[in-house]
Amino acid sequence: MSFSRQHGTLTVEDCAVDDLAARFGTPLYVYSRAAIESAWRAYDAAFADRDHLICYAVKANGSLAILQLLARLGSGFDIVSGGELERVLQAGGDPGRVVFSGVGKTTAEIERALEVGILAFNVESESELERLSEVATRLGREAPVSLRVNPDVDARTHPYISTGLRDNKFGIDIHAAEAVYTRAAERPGLRVEGLDFHIGSQLTELEPLADALSRSLALVDRLAEQGLPLKHLDIGGGLGIRYENETPPSPAALAESLGALLKDRPQRVLMEPGRAIVGAAGLLVSRVEYLKPGHRDFAIVDAAMTDLLRPALYDAWQRIEAVNTTADETRLYDVVGPVCETADVLGRERALALSPGALVAIFDAGAYGFVMASQYNARPRPAEVLVDGAEAHLIRARERVDDLWRGEHLLEAP
Ligand code: LLP
Repeated sequence: MSFSRQHGTLTVEDCAVDDLAARFGTPLYVYSRAAIESAWRAYDAAFADRDHLICYAVKANGSLAILQLLARLGSGFDIVSGGELERVLQAGGDPGRVVFSGVGKTTAEIERALEVGILAFNVESESELERLSEVATRLGREAPVSLRVNPDVDARTHPYISTGLRDNKFGIDIHAAEAVYTRAAERPGLRVEGLDFHIGSQLTELEPLADALSRSLALVDRLAEQGLPLKHLDIGGGLGIRYENETPPSPAALAESLGALLKDRPQRVLMEPGRAIVGAAGLLVSRVEYLKPGHRDFAIVDAAMTDLLRPALYDAWQRIEAVNTTADETRLYDVVGPVCETADVLGRERALALSPGALVAIFDAGAYGFVMASQYNARPRPAEVLVDGAEAHLIRARERVDDLWRGEHLLEAP
């Protein structure tokens, strides 16, 4: 187990969290290398019996050292911007294992992706197809294309992170996709290779994914009949993790349930998990500044919605524990940050035994944590540490106050 308690103190692998906080300060993101690697390996092993590639969704956590760990395991990457592409390259990732998703790819981003030679563009609209064809032709390249279809299934997750319904901006309506494929095959500069879908995030049921896959396979069959055989199927990401009492399916259960549908299919299977690889592997550690008793008991900590946005944005629940077990009285605290917004809440009504100066750990913060951090209220973003056994590596320095105005200019004239 990567996270455990020893003599009442929370540890990550062989490092005590209170030592890490003393050494690196708070708020602090702490990740377990073993947890990340074992989650990736479990995913990979689940699909071992067929040709497959895991394209880790960089958006979940794009820190270079984490991308480097995954690249060394042989991972591919799912990116949604030119910035994410450069991160992957900077971390030593193989561009030949990169798929590029997203509804708004710019011309410059397309040029760069063609230049480095990515595995596939997950194309989300006919206008994007047109632009891709123009750019590739101008550069004398062939763009590998996968159409992201919108299978119109309800992923039964939070509406903000559901993407596979007809009402969402993502993908090409599956009913229109056949005609789009035909036109894509006729356009110069394109090589039609795959089909892709991603129906949402934090999925706790397999049925919507299986539905999306069967609808997609029916399309794949129609395309093959028309002489348009596809080389790969990208089933997206989305497997949930257990934040509270959800029971998300394991990668093995996913592989088993889709395996029946994919049996005897020659296509290589790509997938784009993010949260399931890094989510449970990270903590946000924060120090209590003040306790404010009253009508509600507030624990005001030094982390805020600027460091971990999920509770404020999605009303997401993440487990919070005191780092050290103490004899302090247990009360139901609203754990809040110092930002001047009522939404600046990390957890409501949590039974915690705290005193000022105590440390708290917010669990399952490895995905959509640091990446969604901001400097709102002029708060430097936190540091990140990767624990590997008894060693702790600072993988991102805490921002300094002068980072807050990097790139800004005072007016010169009086
Ligand atoms: N592929 C595509 C095309 C995506 O849009 C996403 C996530 C993924 C893969 C990875 O999904 P995952 O395996 O991590 O569920 N900020 C939200 C989650 C937004 C997810 C956006 N797309 C949150 O904190 O819950």
